[in-house]
Amino acid sequence: MPKPKVFVTRVIRDKGLDLIKEFCQAEIWPGELPPDRATLLEKVRGVEGILCLLTERIDGEVLDAAGPNLKVVSNHAVGFDNIVIPEATARRIPVGNTPGILTDATADFAFALLLAAARRVTEAERYLRAGKWVTWGPSILLGMDLAGKTLGLVGFGRIGQAVAKRAIGFDMRVVYYDPSAAPAWNATPVERLDDLLHQADFVSIHTPLTEQTRHMVNADFLAKMKPTAVLVNTARGGVLDQAALYEALQAKRIFAAALDVTDPEPLPLDSPLLTLENCLITPHIASASTYSRDMMAYLAAQNLIAGLKGERLPHCVNPEVYER
Ligand code: GLV
Repeated sequence: MPKPKVFVTRVIRDKGLDLIKEFCQAEIWPGELPPDRATLLEKVRGVEGILCLLTERIDGEVLDAAGPNLKVVSNHAVGFDNIVIPEATARRIPVGNTPGILTDATADFAFALLLAAARRVTEAERYLRAGKWVTWGPSILLGMDLAGKTLGLVGFGRIGQAVAKRAIGFDMRVVYYDPSAAPAWNATPVERLDDLLHQADFVSIHTPLTEQTRHMVNADFLAKMKPTAVLVNTARGGVLDQAALYEALQAKRIFAAALDVTDPEPLPLDSPLLTLENCLITPHIASASTYSRDMMAYLAAQNLIAGLKGERLPHCVNPEVYER
């Protein structure tokens, strides 16, 4: 029997690729950059499976370009805002994602950003490299303490909860805003987002990007934060209005921000945010530990292969497709 044809939009880690090559006739996009839209539309033609990254927008046009053979779309990410899920569901195509295995890596990185922004780590390194370190000084590069302070988590899913665990070890109090979350022993829910913003010394974003959360962090949100507060975003760039953040940081209406995600990605080098000392930005690497990236590739391959076999995906974001 011929192996099923699939398109994989980038070279992923061997742990996933080996599995895919064994089971499928795979075309793997070799470029460092994602295929452009026209190439994507051409490459998916007639395939039974697509394994994509968060850099590809998978919408009705792509699904139709693939055509009636398409059985599964497997996203190499836990977030899936790059995929128009109702379009996939309407065509009864299951969509897979990679939850769980990147929780700790992402929470570690959110905490690394929190610490780095609070204690001005990257700014201090720039200071040193610029030859500004001329002596030890009592008031040089002062930052914010964590112990005894309040961390506000916007979104209390797997990653938010893992960040809470880390914060407890730093003697922080944790509050969260997430109407759909179950109670937790180590964190206190707040009823309104405003309550969190008024209390929190650190605000960390852990919501998916949806119509409801797009630009949730806007001028009004930032105005309600404490002037000494630090904002961390490891979720999605679209959750935050970057122009409003620039204004707030420049006017020192909040102390600092640390972002692992931007809109667009990559962030253009002429972004005003990059002119600010109190804004730390990394290139969407929160899940970039060897273990996490190996396991993301593995789970994405498992989802792909299950879909090709007509089996239920181990991690399916639109299980409605299995309802009769
Ligand atoms: C990364 O951002 C992911 O959603 O896995």
